[in-house]
This record gives sequence, C-alpha cells and structure tokens, in this order.
Amino acid sequence: MTTGDTPDLSTTAGRLADLRDRYHEAVTAAGEAAIAKQHAKGKGTARERIEQLLDENSFVEFDEFVRHRTTSFGMDAKRPYGDAVVTGVGTIHGRNVAVYAQDFTVFGGSLGEVAGEKIVKVMQHALKTGVPIIGILDSGGARIQEGVVALGKYGEIFRLNTQASGVIPQISIVMGPAAGGAVYSPALTDFVIMVDKTSHMFVTGPDVIKTVTGEDVGFEELGGAQTHNAVSGVAHYLAEDESDALDYARSLVGFLPDNNLSDPPAYDVAPELETTDADHELDVVIPDSTNQPYDVTTIVEHIVDDGEFLEVQPLFAPNIMVGFGRVEGRTVGIIANQPQAMAGTLNIDAGEKAARFVRFCDAFGIPILTLVDVPGYLPGTDQEWTGVIRRGAKLLYAYAEATVPLVTVITRKAYGGAYIVMGSKQLGADINLAWPTAEIAVMGGQGAVNILYRAEIKRAEEAGEDVAAVRTRLANEYTYNVASPYLAAERGELDGIIQPHATRVSVIKALRALRGKRASLPPKKHGNIPL
Ligand code: HXC
Repeated sequence: MTTGDTPDLSTTAGRLADLRDRYHEAVTAAGEAAIAKQHAKGKGTARERIEQLLDENSFVEFDEFVRHRTTSFGMDAKRPYGDAVVTGVGTIHGRNVAVYAQDFTVFGGSLGEVAGEKIVKVMQHALKTGVPIIGILDSGGARIQEGVVALGKYGEIFRLNTQASGVIPQISIVMGPAAGGAVYSPALTDFVIMVDKTSHMFVTGPDVIKTVTGEDVGFEELGGAQTHNAVSGVAHYLAEDESDALDYARSLVGFLPDNNLSDPPAYDVAPELETTDADHELDVVIPDSTNQPYDVTTIVEHIVDDGEFLEVQPLFAPNIMVGFGRVEGRTVGIIANQPQAMAGTLNIDAGEKAARFVRFCDAFGIPILTLVDVPGYLPGTDQEWTGVIRRGAKLLYAYAEATVPLVTVITRKAYGGAYIVMGSKQLGADINLAWPTAEIAVMGGQGAVNILYRAEIKRAEEAGEDVAAVRTRLANEYTYNVASPYLAAERGELDGIIQPHATRVSVIKALRALRGKRASLPPKKHGNIPL
C-alpha cells in the first residue's frame, strides 16, 4: 500500500515504505481506466491471468522495476515500472514453471527492448532450471517507437524458442492480438491455446490484405480462434473463455515432464489387472459392417486411467485423434484414427498433426499408444498437388525416428501405406497387437477384387450372374483369407491377437515391459525431416 506521504529516505522505515510505494506503483502501472477497458473486452490483466494459471500464492515476479529507456516520440514522459510484460516463476500442481504474460494495458503489450529482455531472461531461466515455459500473449507486436531494437528482441526470442524446442515444454496461450512476425513465437512452441472471440493471430492484418489483394476479411474470420483451431491447425485448443484456456494449460502441464531429461509425472494408482465389466464393453464396439463408423474415443476412454483423456487439436483433422492419458498413473501419448471422420482416412492435415504429436512425445520421453483403423490415404488431385508425398512422409519419419516405447493396437482396417505409417512393426514399434476384427492388407477387399478378379467378374457379367453378389463374395474371401490378422501374426508382424476386452490389461503389461527400453539413433547433427 502507498503511504500517501513522501517517505523519509534517511531512515530505514522510510526506505521500506519507499519500496512499498514503488511496488504498488509497479503492480498498478496500467491505471484503472486501462484495466476497465481490458475487462470490458472480456479479458483479464496480465497479473490476473498469472494468478489464475499458477497455484495460489506461488508466483514470484522477476524484474518488476524494469523500465524502458526510449526517448523518441515523447516516450521518456511515460516510463511505467515493469514495462509491458509480467514475468516470473511459480508452480502448477506443485511443480515449477516459468511464465510471462504480456500486459495489453501498458503500451498495448507491445514488445520493445526491455519487454523483450524480460521475456528472454525468464526463458533462459526456464532453460537453465529445466521447467516448462508458458507465455500468455496479448500484444500489438513490435513497439513501433523502438523500430529495429524491438525487431531484434523478437529474433532473440525466436532463437530461444528454437533452442528450447525438445528441451522444455513450451506452451503459448494467446489471449488477445498476436500480430505480424510476433505470431512466430507461439508457432515455434509445442502447444497454442486460443480464446474464442478475443484472440487473433495473423501475419498481415485485414487492412494490409485489403490493400494488397483486395480481399475483404475481418479479424475473426482471418485469424480468430475458430479459424486457427479448425482451419489452419495453428492452434491446439479452442477455449470458450480465459478460465477455460488457463484450466486447459494446467491440465496439459499435469501430463508433461519438466524437461527432456526428467520422467513424465507418475501418480500412484493401484493397478487393476483383472478384466472388468467395463473392459467387456469393448467387445461390442466394432460393428459387423466394416463400413460402419464408431467413435474411437470410446476405446481410448476404456484404456486410460479413469477414462480421462486430454485431447489435443480436436477440431483440426478430426480424422486422426491425438492427446494424453495415463496408464497406471503414467503419461501416455495416444494417436488414433477416427472412423467417425472421413472414415479415418489419412490426409495431409492428419499426417502433419500426428507427426508433430509423435515428435513431441518422443522428445519428452512419453510412450506412444497407437490405435489403428485406417482404410488408407485420402485419394485426389488436391492431396497429390498439395504435397501428400512430401507432407505425408512426416508421419513416417516421426514414427521411424521415435525411440520411446511404441505400442500399437490394430482394431479394424490397416491397409496399404497407412498400415505401415501407423506404428507398424517394421517402422519401429515395440509391441504390436490386433483384435480379431483386424484386416491387414495392401488394399481393401473391394479394391483388390477389381484388380485380382477382373477376369472372373467379366465372366460373371457375360454369364448374366448377379455381379454385385459375386464381387461381395470375392471381397469377403479376400478379407478373410488375405487380410486376416492371423497371417500377420504368423509372420511376427503382430506380437499377439487379443480379445478387445483384454486391451487395457495388455497395454498396461506392454508398457510395463517397455519401461526399461533403451534405443538410440546413429550420431548426426540432425535429420532432415521433409518439411
Ligand atoms: C506501440 C502500440 C502498439 C505497437 C498498440 N499500441 N500496438 N504501441 N507499438 N505495436 C498501443 C496503442 O497505441 C494504444 O496506446 C494501446 O497500445 C492500445 O491499442 P489500441 O489500438 O487502442 O487497442 P485496440 O483497438 O484493441 O487494437 C489493438 C491492435 C492495434 C489491433 C493490436 O493496436 C494495432 O493494430 N496495433 C498495431 C499492430 C501492428 O501493426 N504491430 C506491428 C506488427 S509487426 P494508447 O496510448 O492510445 O492507449 C510486428 C513485427 C514483429 O510485430 C516482427 C518479428 C520478427
């Protein structure tokens, strides 16, 4: 609290009071009007957001007395303590994290020299101490008054983001504008959370677009949370409001290790190794008709502890599902084809989404469980011309270079290249299981019949037989004989064929067996993943 009077600095009491006054000034730098403006937009202040993100009373602030040194444009008349970002450390679920929150109420959260220095310092602290860094972004971008100095700081932040990649988890929560090159810091981080209606990300804004291309587009459509979650794939979670965004970040941290050298958190859970009634519900998930979809979430929820699954990027490429769960209290990354969306086919978006997730898990020592039901790659010129070869190769690359425990369960279709890419044995998976409903082959029955039984079909046509019935019979024969999982098991491509109700216990045992896995790649500077 401010004392109201000017403290007498010749006394100890006076100097303590002076510190109190200065601290008060620092935490109220914005002024009530600016805070009210922020609240009116449904947005919190930087400090309110940090309070909500971290465990109660755990925040320790860095650099609250930093001030900018700019004199141009009359900036020297306004030098608030702390500048336009609040930084520091605290805990989430009792574990250390580092955090920064841009403060839109001060110079629009813009990044000048000292705001940049503060962010760099807290990022370096996170790297030095091996803890996750969480950035809350709400900024007009590079501080216009500071020119190249501000741009240079962004360069430094991007470089640190890159150095930290694969070393500490990096989470960005976009809670306002992130404009221009500033978007590339979140883009370099592992997870981007956006808030519906109040956060926007774009490289060039609507005005510039209108001038250059003539396109008319608003902030929301161009770079709102819906757009980046469902269309561009830039964001990983669409929060309905700020509380939802901060809660999601807290849940996410609960699954992640502190850094690449520490184990993911493990919670004490009494293992249930007997088959339960709930396990038996998996026996009826796969429909009799292979073309009928089902929701793969049901299978995931039957495997993970307490049915708790934190999905990542649910709105983008919903034909593949990725996210975190726990098995025996330990984090597992789950990747599953989703038959409910585009029949679970793989396309460019699904491949890139899953590849990035596999690489995250691999970098941070998180075992991967893959659930396979994939009819193949999505055909079409659109996919071929937009690079399904180059971009689809990312998922192969990601699985093939992963050294964490890999467990794969094929529940139904596993055809062609899509079989190989989805955590197959030859690509490096450790334990491969299948349900008796699995179909593994170069292609599906109908497609195979068109090629293998061309003469037979022609003969049936000429003989006036029911061609559709002949096709179905041949396709079924092919599926039972050639696509049978027992052929794959015979050759050791599968380690076992299990009843669906045995899946949860089998996955527990597989992950236990792989706990001591040691694997490494040949020494190299870095690989050259197709980008
Ligand atoms: C300095 C800025 C600022 C900036 C906003 N402010 N952006 N000050 N540098 N980049 C200030 C405003 O002057 C204003 O100050 C206060 O912040 C609040 O801004 P408003 O415009 O009143 O808020 P709002 O209407 O909500 O609009 C938010 C906004 C708009 C859309 C972000 O401020 C805007 O367009 N700003 C400029 C965005 C931009 O072009 N930035 C550069 C991008 S390029 P007062 O004193 O009036 O309260 C970039 C390069 C990075 O960042 C490169 C990295 C390689």
